[in-house]
Amino acid sequence: MADLSCNIAGVHGPNPFWLASAPPTDKQYNVERAFEAGWGGVVWKTLGEAGPPVVNVCSRYGSIDYNGQRMVGLNNIELITDRPLDVNLREIAAVKQAWPDRAMVVSLMVPCNEAAWRDILKAVEQTGCDGVELNFGCPHGMSERGMGSAVGQVPEYIREVTGWCKTHTDLPVFVKLTPNITDIRYPARAAREGGADAVSLINTINSITGIDLDTFAPEPTVAGKGAHGGYCGPAVKPIALGMVSEIARDPVTHGLPISGIGGIATWRDAAEFIALGCGSVQVCTAAMHFGFKIIDDLVDGLANWMDDQGHANLDAFRGRAVPNVTDWNQLDLNYKTLAAIDQDLCIQCGLCHIVCEDTSHQAIARSRGDDGRRVYTVIDDDCVGCNLCNLVCPVPDCISMVEVDNGKPYLNWNDHPNNPQGGN
Ligand SMILES: Cc1cc2nc3c(=O)[nH]c(=O)nc-3n(C[C@H](O)[C@H](O)[C@H](O)COP(=O)(O)O)c2cc1C
Ligand code: SF4
Ligand code: SF4
Repeated sequence: MADLSCNIAGVHGPNPFWLASAPPTDKQYNVERAFEAGWGGVVWKTLGEAGPPVVNVCSRYGSIDYNGQRMVGLNNIELITDRPLDVNLREIAAVKQAWPDRAMVVSLMVPCNEAAWRDILKAVEQTGCDGVELNFGCPHGMSERGMGSAVGQVPEYIREVTGWCKTHTDLPVFVKLTPNITDIRYPARAAREGGADAVSLINTINSITGIDLDTFAPEPTVAGKGAHGGYCGPAVKPIALGMVSEIARDPVTHGLPISGIGGIATWRDAAEFIALGCGSVQVCTAAMHFGFKIIDDLVDGLANWMDDQGHANLDAFRGRAVPNVTDWNQLDLNYKTLAAIDQDLCIQCGLCHIVCEDTSHQAIARSRGDDGRRVYTVIDDDCVGCNLCNLVCPVPDCISMVEVDNGKPYLNWNDHPNNPQGGN
């Protein structure tokens, strides 16, 4: 069987699947059962300074259902751990001692001054944990107190705080980035400049789940009011993949270890993040939706696929997708595909015709066959190969996009005669 063992920035585990810093990793009881179930590591729920812990509100989660599927997106207005620091530290030490082969990374968030970071690092080091993750990502509650994404949105702060942490600990330092920023490369570069051993991304996306149209209160609702929170779950995976790919292919951050997070629910999701260069993957919403046992499918699925593909270990395919992510102006404008409808599979619902007629290129004709049934046919000369009909067709494999050899050479926008800034 394929070797799933993982080593990212010197943090080892038997597989790349870590539970992300969140409720699943908030206490010894949870983390021990996660390890019993087979998780390769955890990032412990974010710790704050010593002293009275933060206070959380009731009604702290909201979610988006779509077409009968529950929780395609999860929103939360939860803060960092609301349990005392000494209790968490004691439990982290106990779990690490009992499970020495699992990755134990501890998430941290304290005010932006060097003494606060120095003190928490010294305390956390005593637990025997394998690394720390600096939470520069949470977009709600703590950010209003100058922490979380308030740091993650300012590259200078990231560089400085990461530098302090590298000065005050020898543990590997992961910097967890916020997606609530225009260009993820800048915070990632700042993390590397500060000495980060790895970056983790994404944290949650600023959001309001919805508005209750009876009470006109945002959801989740706390005594008639609501505040923006952090969005995660399957809905955010494309955003996370996009950001991971930007860091993986940026010459300034290329090679910086990445722990991928965001909407990972299946082994395929995980494989995609690893193909974009991730050294480990973190899961929160899927565990909160289905429980710790999903690790069985994650591990078995990934191992089976790797066996089928002949990938002996994670390094065999890690980063393989990175060279294929490019800029739009490098794409081949002469690449040609056409839609093709399998008439044997078609159920004559007409959706492909409607969407192409109303919103694309009027390239699917509707006619009547000899038996009176509707027939939908692609007009090759009008089809621009946009994929839309293929995406909406309810029957699997009924519409395929067929590559056409038009004999034309590779031509990108830089060299295109229509480009006013270049070309011929
Ligand atoms: C209820 C909840 C609480 C969270 N708390 C934290 C936290 O304390 N620290 C942190 O770094 N991220 C926190 N997160 C963010 C997750 O670690 C993760 O980055 C995010 O949920 C994306 O992963 P997912 O799509 O698998 O859920 C929290 C997420 C949720 C849903
Ligand atoms: S690929 Fe686009 S243009 Fe071609 S038939 Fe389908 S919807 Fe129309
Ligand atoms: S959407 Fe698919 S099933 Fe429906 S008419 Fe078009 S090809 Fe047939």
